[in-house]
Amino acid sequence: MASSATFAKLDAASSTWIGHQSFSSLPLPSSRLAPSRVSLPIRAGQYTDELLKTAKTIASPGRGILAIDESNATCGKRLDSIGLDNTETNRQAYRQLLLTTPGLGQYISGSILFEETLYQTTTDGKKMVDCLVEQNIVPGIKVDKGLVPLPGSNNESWCQGLDGLASRTSEYYKQGARFAKWRTVVSIPCGPSALAVKEAAWGLARYAAISQDSGLVPIVEPEILLDGDHGIERTLEVAEKVWSEVFFYLAENNVVFEGILLKPSMVTPGAEHKERASPETIAKYTLTMLRRRVPPAVPGIMFLSGGQSEVEATLNLNAMNQVPNPWHVSFSYARALQNSVLKTWKGQPENVEAAQKALLVRAKANSLAQLGKYTGEDESDEAKKGMFVKGYTY
Ligand code: 13P
Repeated sequence: MASSATFAKLDAASSTWIGHQSFSSLPLPSSRLAPSRVSLPIRAGQYTDELLKTAKTIASPGRGILAIDESNATCGKRLDSIGLDNTETNRQAYRQLLLTTPGLGQYISGSILFEETLYQTTTDGKKMVDCLVEQNIVPGIKVDKGLVPLPGSNNESWCQGLDGLASRTSEYYKQGARFAKWRTVVSIPCGPSALAVKEAAWGLARYAAISQDSGLVPIVEPEILLDGDHGIERTLEVAEKVWSEVFFYLAENNVVFEGILLKPSMVTPGAEHKERASPETIAKYTLTMLRRRVPPAVPGIMFLSGGQSEVEATLNLNAMNQVPNPWHVSFSYARALQNSVLKTWKGQPENVEAAQKALLVRAKANSLAQLGKYTGEDESDEAKKGMFVKGYTY
């Protein structure tokens, strides 16, 4: 196949610039000079050491992120799927179930919360944040303010939230958050237009710089939506374009690469494409894209699940960990960690224990996939159900 030959050639070439030397002995960007002609040194960030430590903790072997940062409206969709009203009490009960799961810290290194949960307690009056810290799970916070239409584009959107972000991120730090998340989206069927890609990349870079300045490790998430009938080659092309712009602006904004985490979509065919791709193909395309675009200074790649079934997301992650990677390659799933839990819980107090066990089953499976040791055996039919919804909004 012509495309495999191209891959082989590029893989060989890319190994020269990825390299295998250690960068740990080099000075961190705090001591570098600003780019050409502006010869003022960039002020060292007061949190640089802590950012590196936080990022390393999150990117620790056999662990990944439990994303439960749904806005109240999106959490309402989750609750509605099991017939519950979208009340604060129900959201608290659900988040409490997840965050108090015994043994969770073995597989989960970080959890992204929505603002309500960051300030919330359990029904026994314990801070949700403390439930995480006790299990050596780093608390994180969604800081973007969601998507709105992008005027002048092809029906695309942009992500709000930069205004007042610095004061919010310092408050979140005081509240115990140590990492942040900003999700913007790119739509392949809508173009994507050069304007939408540039806006997405610039917003992510400004957010990342602001978060680092407040001591929060930014998760950089330009989600390339699964929507569309395009093939995997087209996704690869768009993903390469998006990540090249993202890294260009991250560098322009003097973001410390050692103190960020990425949350990419896997490179797959569009959800409505006539053919599905195997985990091996998805791994090959996704890793090719990452090797071409992501410097090895970045500590961790934490994939989103994007509407894949729980089992698909785990199998794909496992396939990506069959070869040594320059970064920790792991998960930051919401839907692909929560689906079986919700279906088991059904909002009934007597099902809490079983639902927590269901969460551990998924967390353990993804932990094994992070280590490249997941076999896919004994999975339930529920875990194999796809969750893609056309035009899904978070
Ligand atoms: P999923 O695509 O895994 O549902 O999560 C996306 C996300 O950004 C949640 O933080």
